[in-house]
Amino acid sequence: MTLRDVTGVLQTTVKKGNLPDSEFEDATKALIESSVKITGTVKEDKRAPGGYELQVTGLSVVNFAEPFPITKDQSPEFLLDQRHLWIRSRKETSILKIRSTVTGAIHSFFRERGFYEFDAPVLQPNQCEGGSTLFEVKYYEDKTFLSQSWQLYAEAGIFSLERIYNMGPTFRAERSKTSRHLSEFWMAEMEAAWMDLSDVVQVAKDEVQYIVEMVLKNNRKDLEVLKQDVSKLETIAGSEFPTITYTDALKILKEKEGLDIEWGKDLRTVEEDRLMNQFTTPVVVTHYPLEIMAFYKPRDEKDPKTARCFDMLAPEGYGEIIGGSERSTDIGYMTERLRQMGEKVENYQWYFDLRRFGSVPHSGYGLGVERLVAWICKAENIKDVIPFPRTLLRFRP
Ligand code: 4AD
Ligand code: MG
Repeated sequence: MTLRDVTGVLQTTVKKGNLPDSEFEDATKALIESSVKITGTVKEDKRAPGGYELQVTGLSVVNFAEPFPITKDQSPEFLLDQRHLWIRSRKETSILKIRSTVTGAIHSFFRERGFYEFDAPVLQPNQCEGGSTLFEVKYYEDKTFLSQSWQLYAEAGIFSLERIYNMGPTFRAERSKTSRHLSEFWMAEMEAAWMDLSDVVQVAKDEVQYIVEMVLKNNRKDLEVLKQDVSKLETIAGSEFPTITYTDALKILKEKEGLDIEWGKDLRTVEEDRLMNQFTTPVVVTHYPLEIMAFYKPRDEKDPKTARCFDMLAPEGYGEIIGGSERSTDIGYMTERLRQMGEKVENYQWYFDLRRFGSVPHSGYGLGVERLVAWICKAENIKDVIPFPRTLLRFRP
């Protein structure tokens, strides 16, 4: 029998004569995933996985399992249908342990730096990142939306707490079926009074390095189960992450990858990946074209076609893990942008009040927890790193 608990797997030998006959009978009847309580003697055995074996002297079956539906070589779709059972697998167990380290590290990173945790509503009447990906919710006789971001409410919170953070479920009705998009994901965000673009870029770099260090400290065994090259992560933890501008990125794409992107176009997944071919650590890209950015991102007066914003991209095809910016304090500009998008400007008056009743420069960013965990674990698909994924095609089980 192979035993499994949270610490790993252990090979056992159940031999007639070493335990009462009725217990031996039960052992022969217990199918895979039956629950048992076992007593025995631990023996060193070089051939056994983990180097040890348990010789069983007593066994009681707590639950005789029915035939387990998951066998070898099943399709990803089948495994997603069986997600409630598949999360018991060794691979998923290791990923979930790493995820727990990552979320724990996010809390400790910000708390150690004096940030307060601040909560925003999940039901929000406004958009933050564009109306097309909002999930509409019936709200009594009215309608509202599921949160696309904590940010707009965080901008209210900094006037009492100055430096705040949060991590919570975030919703986007993404029409794309990529290995990077979930409809429900967890975003870890921060917002800070008095910080400018370069300040928050530094916090973002420190945060990612801190998280990688925590995973290296706590999850070596899990990285091994996932067959990850630990030395790569160690190098990343000790490296400076480069910062380039969007315009530099286009130059690199042209010179090194032979890709000619027109200035002003957003970087798509393919272009991000081609750019990241040139790097082994995460890279921060700043100053994207103003026009393709969200309404709250301010113009850079020194380079007026660009916004004071940034993305952090991960290497090896994991794409954008962080997005952030300074926040505009120009009510006229934001009103204009919202009008262009067809938004009801009345709904944003409370947000504009944050610029009317005392305002200070402030900035923030959001980190996609699953994107980061997927990159650390080198998961094939973002769906592998959240217990129960929700996507365009799936909201069960
Ligand atoms: O770049 P985004 O859209 O930024 C914001 O929402 C800002 N309001 C955050 C802020 O400044 N407080 O999203 C932030 C990050 C992305 O970089 C990405 O990692 C992740 O959230 N993300 C997704 N992850 C999984 N599935 C999706 N559909 C995601 N959309 C964004
Ligand atoms: Mg973004």
